[in-house]
Amino acid sequence: MGAIKLHTPIPGPRSQELLRRREAAVPAGIFHAAPVCIARAEGALVEDVDGNRLIDFAGGIGCLNVGHRAPRVMAALGEQMERFLHACFSVTPYELYISLAEKLNARAPGNFRKKTMFVNSGAEAVENAVKIARCYTGRPAVVCFEDAFHGRTLLTLSLTSKTHPYKAGFGPFAGEVYRLPYAYCYRCAYGLKFPECAVHCARQLETLFQRDVAAESVAALIVEPVLGEGGFVPGPAEFFAELHRICRAHGILFIADEVQTGFGRTGALFACERLGIEPDLMVTAKSLGGGMPLAAVTGRAEVMDAPGVGGLGGTFGGHPLSLAAGHAVLDIMDDENLPARAETLGQRFWTRASVWKARWPELGDVRGLGAMQALELVEPGGREPAKSLANAVSRQALERGLIVLTAGTFGNVIRLLVPLTISDEQFDEGMKVLEAALSTAIARQTETARSV
Ligand SMILES: Cc1ncc(COP(=O)(O)O)c(C=O)c1O
Repeated sequence: MGAIKLHTPIPGPRSQELLRRREAAVPAGIFHAAPVCIARAEGALVEDVDGNRLIDFAGGIGCLNVGHRAPRVMAALGEQMERFLHACFSVTPYELYISLAEKLNARAPGNFRKKTMFVNSGAEAVENAVKIARCYTGRPAVVCFEDAFHGRTLLTLSLTSKTHPYKAGFGPFAGEVYRLPYAYCYRCAYGLKFPECAVHCARQLETLFQRDVAAESVAALIVEPVLGEGGFVPGPAEFFAELHRICRAHGILFIADEVQTGFGRTGALFACERLGIEPDLMVTAKSLGGGMPLAAVTGRAEVMDAPGVGGLGGTFGGHPLSLAAGHAVLDIMDDENLPARAETLGQRFWTRASVWKARWPELGDVRGLGAMQALELVEPGGREPAKSLANAVSRQALERGLIVLTAGTFGNVIRLLVPLTISDEQFDEGMKVLEAALSTAIARQTETARSV
């Protein structure tokens, strides 16, 4: 018996009714990847308001590596609720904050003394990392990458690299932001091939210093170890090594944005570990909170200490419930060895997806790190991004009871953000649905192309 159970077409009547109310009450600008209203969730399964049961390959956009309502997270929340809900760390400090900071300091890559601060969202953490880097270096500029996503606040949107729907209409953006192409080897900006290119893209950082911004004006470089929203593109280790070397030579801080790659997703607790990067500052969020809003900046102690007393903080940053969940997440990661599970799931995905790639020319690229895997869909015979096909695949999957997300600057990537606690049976059932969705969407596209 499968996990998926559908009693109504998706979305069902109750979902549709809620979505009608939503249209009247909530701004149009908030997107729904899967327009189906959820009633409850457990592990990798979601039940909607019509009683349909779906498999979740999205995990609230990568926030549920430990699964929905992980029992140890729920127990930690219950215990903390008995003590206190909110006090504000800037009013009266509490141990939960200090002890989770200690744990992240010990676990973050880099054999140096570290400190950690907590905030509520990935964007807020990126904002703070840049603030701290500017304060420490006394320099204004930040270097970031094409196809990057760092958030939706003014500074983080300025660092983000996708016009529609993220940036268009929201300018003017923050100044002193400079951008280079990422090591997106499938779509190399320089038309080169790895490894013969000797990471030409990373070396362009030196050119940027000659043409656009003096190295001595640059506070930090911020980069995702694997592009998330940009299409699940893992940069080669050599790319990061070269960027890191150049940063070091010019006194520029290296910020790793591990918001989407963090907490076991890529086969290690942090993707930086897999790539041999020791960032000066690391930003985490999403799965750190096990379903609660929690984000962190972890970095070299002397850098983190640069802002004066009162220069950092926020009313809800490091909320006790979120911190309690964060402790439980780290325990689960260790005790259930979820990074290793991510590697196994990634292999399972890759094995099946490689067969699909051989079968369908529409699968231009299958790539990823650990369980952060993706399919890049293209028009057959070339690399023209096939955005409408990716949307059709995700729609077909949803109609069959699988929630799956698209990604990519061109919107043509299907990405896997499944809870790492999913069972093999549920995972295989989800993959079977994904295969059926691909098959139908590709067949329909081929038919339409023929009839035009
Ligand atoms: C790499 C990365 N950085 C930052 C963010 C922003 O995080 P949040 O949505 O929690 O503000 C995201 C969100 O998807 C992300 O993927």
